[in-house]
Amino acid sequence: MIYDIIVVGGGIAGLMAAIEAKNATNKVALLTKGNLFKSNSSLASGGINAVLERGDKSGILKHIEDTYKATYGLGDKKSIEYMCKRASYVIEKLVQYGVDFDKDEEGNIAQRSFGGGSVKRTCYVADKTGSAITAALIKKAKSVGVNFVVNTFVMNITKLENQVSGVVALRRFDSSVVVYPAKAVVLAGGGYAGIYRGYSTNAQDFTGDMHAIALRAGLNLKDMEFVQFHPTGLVKTSYLISEAARGEGGYLVNSKGERFVDELGTRDVVSRAIAKQIEAGEKVFIDLRHLSKKDIETKLPSLQKAALMQAGVDVTTELLPIKPVAHYSMGGIENKRTCTAIKGLFVCGECGASGIHGANRLGGNSLLEAAVFGELAGKNALSFSEHKELLPIDYNIVAKDVHVVDYIFRDDTSKNFNAMRINLGNVMFKHAGIYRDKEGLEKAFDYLSYLRKEASTLHCTIKDRVNNVELISILELKNALEVAEAVVLSAKKRKESRGAHSREDYPKSNKKYEKSILINEIKKGFFKLWFEDGTLMSNFKKRFTNLT
Ligand code: FUM
Repeated sequence: MIYDIIVVGGGIAGLMAAIEAKNATNKVALLTKGNLFKSNSSLASGGINAVLERGDKSGILKHIEDTYKATYGLGDKKSIEYMCKRASYVIEKLVQYGVDFDKDEEGNIAQRSFGGGSVKRTCYVADKTGSAITAALIKKAKSVGVNFVVNTFVMNITKLENQVSGVVALRRFDSSVVVYPAKAVVLAGGGYAGIYRGYSTNAQDFTGDMHAIALRAGLNLKDMEFVQFHPTGLVKTSYLISEAARGEGGYLVNSKGERFVDELGTRDVVSRAIAKQIEAGEKVFIDLRHLSKKDIETKLPSLQKAALMQAGVDVTTELLPIKPVAHYSMGGIENKRTCTAIKGLFVCGECGASGIHGANRLGGNSLLEAAVFGELAGKNALSFSEHKELLPIDYNIVAKDVHVVDYIFRDDTSKNFNAMRINLGNVMFKHAGIYRDKEGLEKAFDYLSYLRKEASTLHCTIKDRVNNVELISILELKNALEVAEAVVLSAKKRKESRGAHSREDYPKSNKKYEKSILINEIKKGFFKLWFEDGTLMSNFKKRFTNLT
């Protein structure tokens, strides 16, 4: 249970980090709270962006420009440049690891169009790109000796004098709280779009655990108000209907059969256009009927199957009803090319605000970001750990987590955590969704304060400690509420519209706000927000201060 390096999260970022962090002699563990194939990476189906020809300077420059343009002025140019230049190397690495990208007629890796891209640069494996990459990386990680520790819910990091010393985790198997000492830790546990439960492509357990851990460790979160709504979730289930469908030529049509938006616009623009149609009483559909049956079967097989299984729709002959749903969180843990303010702690993938996406994100850039920055985080963790000793563990943190778990088991409750999670999703979608305004955000904040107080006295009704699902759900809910507050407070502070953040009361963007908002929880229930240049500082004192 003592490792040199611990990676938290089993998506593409975590797997890449673990592979890079492993050398011939060190011990590397990859911890996941559920099973390995449940990451958002494996759900992201459409593809991964890259200019494959290394000498194609103008192609790479275009990729940099498209990516930066999509950030609406909030991107970090150096990080974007790093990612776009590294893309071809990472694709080559993935191929070596066994990813079998689809090929064109000449046998070269095929590339499709994706929203916001000025050229075809999205490499793919039919519409299963994320899961194909994940499967290859799991195999590679196993072969180099990474130790997989599944069903292990990380509750907090431990540190000593601003250097990480390990993680505290809950073993689902017996609900015991255990410590994993480590010289370096990489957080790669995904985003927080799952807090929009019922309105999200994410699995419901994407509750921003990493962000909540970071807040509790005193780190800043950045750009939290920017949540990407994917234009095409299945109406009934919010299942992701990949952008690949539009990349392959699919149309968006309303009940009258009219096309109303450029299907390959950026996701913020397309989602808003769909939301306006729905608000006006229209239904919105993806129309693939004009594509050849063969193209649908070979390039969009997962979509075809899901449409049939989940909506009873044969997309070769029928329209598929869709709606925009929360898909990706641009906001995340503040870091500089994976390094955080805590020594030995690195972040990558969706949980980190890498500066790649800013106020929006190009489709196909998330898998690339995960792969490129996962690789970098692993390298950084390895070099940090190489000449370090393990630090002593601060058992105060461990004792607190033991207390949290014991408290949840201790008493009975008539409160229903599941209803609270659903209500959280409803309130976030309604008031901090595609469109927002001051009044709605205030309502959301008041309701979150209420929920947070209610959640602080939740107990599980079943007291069996073996695989107790309620326990994890309560811990996730607490994390989700902490993170939801950060989203709502940041959204309230940004009095303009920019990218995925659309304020109906401030419909235009304002140069004064062309900077990131940072947020920190000074102590439980007290948040501090400021712009990255240090201006417009505000402390926010919560109504309820007796949170456990
Ligand atoms: O639509 C999709 O296939 C999603 C891809 C992405 O989020 O990059």
